[in-house]
Amino acid sequence: MNKLLEVKDLTVQYDGGDYAIKNINIDVNDQEIIGIVGESGSGKTTLVRAIINLLSSNAKIVSGEVIFCGENIEKYNKEQWRKLRGNEIAMIFQNPGSYLNPIMKIGKQFIESIRSHRDISKAQAIKKAKDTLEKMGLDDGDRMMNSYPYQLSGGMKQRVAIAMAMAMEPKLILADEPTSALDVITQAQIANELLDLRDKFETSIVMITHNIGFAAYIADRIVVMYDGKVVECDNKSQIILEPKAQYTRTLLQTIPELKGS
Ligand SMILES: Nc1ncnc2c1ncn2[C@@H]1O[C@H](COP(=O)(O)OP(=O)(O)OP(=O)(O)O)[C@@H](O)[C@H]1O
Ligand SMILES: [Mg+2]
Repeated sequence: MNKLLEVKDLTVQYDGGDYAIKNINIDVNDQEIIGIVGESGSGKTTLVRAIINLLSSNAKIVSGEVIFCGENIEKYNKEQWRKLRGNEIAMIFQNPGSYLNPIMKIGKQFIESIRSHRDISKAQAIKKAKDTLEKMGLDDGDRMMNSYPYQLSGGMKQRVAIAMAMAMEPKLILADEPTSALDVITQAQIANELLDLRDKFETSIVMITHNIGFAAYIADRIVVMYDGKVVECDNKSQIILEPKAQYTRTLLQTIPELKGS
């Protein structure tokens, strides 16, 4: 199996603080879905933001490397990142509201985003945008395209953000709690769409979730983080059925349907 992403010995620190993540090692194979779980503050967001080079200005990578398709992308300049981000690696943020432009209709944002990465006509871009929105359960694609972000619920905005990432058909999607604000039916729908996306476009996905049950459904392997470190990383069946770390066992006990099973 081909390694798409390798995170090697990655340590990140915020100004004035202790490390936020420490000596993280994770590989992501082609077409693999990795679930990252761990309590609030364990460093999940810091890890994926470090991967895609979007750490806040008060953070620095103290050590380590991020290798994508065999290249050390941490050394990339702005222009190289512009080409890579959105195109090859897409990120779905924890708070989608911060990602959408509040004064631009969804359709315009979506079409601009597609056409900035792909050489296709406006009509093709509109069709692609509507199709992807509908796949995300936003049935009235036309209404969606004509709405401003403030006219949509939090869940709708999140689905728009996921659709925008998916429409690029990137090699890797980094998703930070993409479904935690949504109801369970929509969560299941989106999980199935992500699984489909992986099958159709051979996308790899790194998904952060608080919910180890959700990770168990969607992921091939699960990474358990605690206090900025990886405490366990294994196939999901191993993690769910025979967890090695005490912290993983504690996490599993928080899910009623997995208790005692
Ligand atoms: N912008 C920031 N400035 C300073 N410290 C930060 C910043 N962002 C995160 N941290 C610190 O880094 C550590 C890891 O935070 P991070 O946001 O990565 O955790 P998380 O696992 O994503 O948590 P959550 O599940 O709540 O989203 C925490 O101790 C946090 O206080
Ligand atoms: Mg987070």
